[in-house]
Amino acid sequence: MADPKLHPATLAAQALGWTDATTGAVIMPLHTATTFIRDPDNQYRRGRSYARADNPTYDQPEQLLSALEGGAGSLLFPSGMAAATAVFQSLDLGAHVVVPEIMYWALRRWLANAPGLSVDFVDATSLDAIAGAIRPGKTKLVWLETPANPLWSVTDIAGAAEIAHRAGALLAVDNTVATPVLTRPIEHGADLVMHSATKYLNGHSDVMAGTVTAARDDELWRRIVTTRASGGAIIGGFEAYLLLRGMRTLYLRVERCCRSAEKIAAALAANPHVEAVLYPGLPEHKNHEIAARQMHGGFGGMMSIRVKGGEAAAIAAAARVGLWKRATSLGGVESLIEHRASVEGPDSPVPPDLLRMSVGCEDPADLIADMEQALAG
Ligand SMILES: Cc1ncc(COP(=O)(O)O)c(C=O)c1O
Repeated sequence: MADPKLHPATLAAQALGWTDATTGAVIMPLHTATTFIRDPDNQYRRGRSYARADNPTYDQPEQLLSALEGGAGSLLFPSGMAAATAVFQSLDLGAHVVVPEIMYWALRRWLANAPGLSVDFVDATSLDAIAGAIRPGKTKLVWLETPANPLWSVTDIAGAAEIAHRAGALLAVDNTVATPVLTRPIEHGADLVMHSATKYLNGHSDVMAGTVTAARDDELWRRIVTTRASGGAIIGGFEAYLLLRGMRTLYLRVERCCRSAEKIAAALAANPHVEAVLYPGLPEHKNHEIAARQMHGGFGGMMSIRVKGGEAAAIAAAARVGLWKRATSLGGVESLIEHRASVEGPDSPVPPDLLRMSVGCEDPADLIADMEQALAG
C-alpha cells in the first residue's frame, strides 16, 4: 500500500520505496522465470504458477500506477492497443459502446470493425452528443480520450461519467496524453483508466507497453484480468523493468514538457507561416475552459499546428526540421513531429495541413529556433 501522506511525485521517484528483502538492493530484481514451484501438498501458496498470468516484475509498476491514478488495481499489457482492446473484449457479446470520433486512429479503426460490439462514434467534446448516443439498457461503456489525438480536444470527464452512470454504463478514459501528473480520471468519476505506456509512462521511446487501471475490484475488472491471463497478452519482464525505470522520472519529464510546450505554442501562434496552433493551454483553444478545470499543473506536451499553404507546405516544413525528429509516437524525451494525415490515410478526420508535435525535454529555445527555420523554408 502506498503511503497516502506522500505526494505522487515522491511515490514515483522512489517507485513506492520498495527494496529487495533478500539482498537489500534498492532496485528490485528482474524476474525472468516462466514457471513457479508447486508446494509439496500440491498448492501454490505463493500465488503464482505460470508467467502467462503475471510476473513478479509487474507488481511494482502495477502498484505504483494504481497509487498514481488512485485506482484499486492495474494491469500491464504488451502495448496500448492490447490494453484498450482487452477492455472492449471483456464486455458482453453485442454490448453497445459510445466512443469519440476524434481519438487515436488505430483504435478508432479497430472499433469500426470490432467483432461482437455495437459502436457509436460521437463528438465527445459535447456532453449532449454523448447523452444522445446512449441506448438505455444496452450501452455498457463510454470511452474517452482526453486530450484527444491529434486535435487535442478535451472532454469533461465528470460530465461524461454522470451520463454513463445514469444509464448503468461505465466510463473508461485513455489518459495517455494527460498522464496522472495532470489529470486523475478516477477522481472525476471514471471507472477505468487506460494508457499507452509506450508514451509518457515509459518516456524513452524504447518500450512498447499498455496499462489498464480500475477504480474498483468489480466484475468487469475480474473479466479484464481473465482476458489477459487466458488471452496471453503479457509484457516481457525486461520491458516491465524498463517501464518502471521510466515511471520514476514521470513527474520531472511531464512538468518539463508542459513548460516547454507553453513556450513553443506561444511562439508558433505568433509565427506568420502558421494558420493555427491546437494546444489546450491556449485561451483560444475551443476546450480551454474545460482543460483549465480538469488538468492541473499544465496542459501537456502535445500540440498540433496547421501550416499556411496546405498539405504540401506542411510536409515541406516537416522535411526541413533538424532537431525535431520526423517520426510517429509521442511522450519521449526527444521531440517528434509528424504529418498526421499521411499516417491515418484517406478516412481520417485530420486536416491535411496538420503537423502533430510531441514536445520532449530539450531546451525549448532550440526547439523553437528549429521550427522557425523549418517553417520559413
Ligand atoms: C492516445 C493513444 N492511445 C493508445 C495508443 C496505442 O498505444 P500503443 O502504440 O502502445 O499500442 C496510442 C499510440 O500512439 C495513443 O497515442
